Amino acid sequence: MVRRELLRGLGRLNATTTVLQRARLADPIGGMWEAADVQWWWRRPRATDELALPVWFDEVGPVAAAGLTAWGDTWQADVFAVPSIVDEEDVWAATLEATAGHRGEALQVLVCEDDAPLTDLAIQSGFAMTDELSGTAWMDADQRPTVAQVDGFAIVDRVTRADRPHPMIARNGELVEPRLRQCSLYDPTLDLAVEEADGRVAGYALFWFDQTTLVGLLEPMRVEDEYQRRGLARMLLTNGLDRLARKGARRLKVGFGTDAARNLYLGAGFVQTSIDRLLIRPAPHE
Ligand SMILES: CC(C)(COP(=O)(O)OP(=O)(O)OC[C@H]1O[C@@H](n2cnc3c(N)ncnc32)[C@H](O)[C@@H]1OP(=O)(O)O)[C@@H](O)C(=O)NCCC(=O)NCCS
Repeated sequence: MVRRELLRGLGRLNATTTVLQRARLADPIGGMWEAADVQWWWRRPRATDELALPVWFDEVGPVAAAGLTAWGDTWQADVFAVPSIVDEEDVWAATLEATAGHRGEALQVLVCEDDAPLTDLAIQSGFAMTDELSGTAWMDADQRPTVAQVDGFAIVDRVTRADRPHPMIARNGELVEPRLRQCSLYDPTLDLAVEEADGRVAGYALFWFDQTTLVGLLEPMRVEDEYQRRGLARMLLTNGLDRLARKGARRLKVGFGTDAARNLYLGAGFVQTSIDRLLIRPAPHE
């Protein structure tokens, strides 16, 4: 027996976390997202946070959830589901239904290129393919590269730098740290920055360890323009992957949208498992 409940806010985030963890345990590489991805999206308040969206439960717990995430004026639609329990079509329909009162927004969905059913559903709902491609890659933790060091720079985390402003504030807003701390999978010892000897932050990377799935995810990664091409992303990456493995992660995952990032990750030993395509439905004209 599957029942449906409407959830909003952190309650919906936590239920979605469980759905994605169960989905990952059921299929080691299927689906687009880890629980940590949706927790990363929680880093700033969004127009979609308090929407009451359906979550499906079986006797064990949450098995599927509708997802809407506001990226400015474009809302991302997602079908989060443990395979073969709830019909993906029902979750998709409920997700679109929830946008009905919000006609001012364009909608987007990111689909694995081999996910024909979801692509078909999106196209039937008025979405069109774009040329925007991104990728997903995986690595076994015991294949991780050796930790790289760049002279004159040091890796720090949010425990050792608790007294400093969070390095992501400029891009993600004042609330980024308290919002991250609301997330069950956030770990301040995996929230890394690379600093110059004078304390200036050259880049940052946040790693997420999921004890339920034993997956370690990297999201986001950035090296500031003036510090690029000196090996600092590789230093952050190898350090973070090593920390994930030491915490017990067995498999490591990353997504990317640029050639630079792809080269960085594949060069470190990640193997690309999917090409993902963005589909868009423009906001209807009034
Ligand atoms: C991607 C990014 C993190 C790389 O940072 P970086 O410190 O310059 O990278 P590194 O110097 O450690 O380079 C490591 C490897 O990455 C690849 N790489 C990095 N920048 C590259 C570029 N502009 N073009 C092609 N390959 C690049 C190379 O393979 C490089 O190895 P090499 O220097 O031996 O050729 C940085 O460009 C960035 O922050 N970009 C904007 C944000 C972003 O795209 N983040 C990634 C999101 S998934």
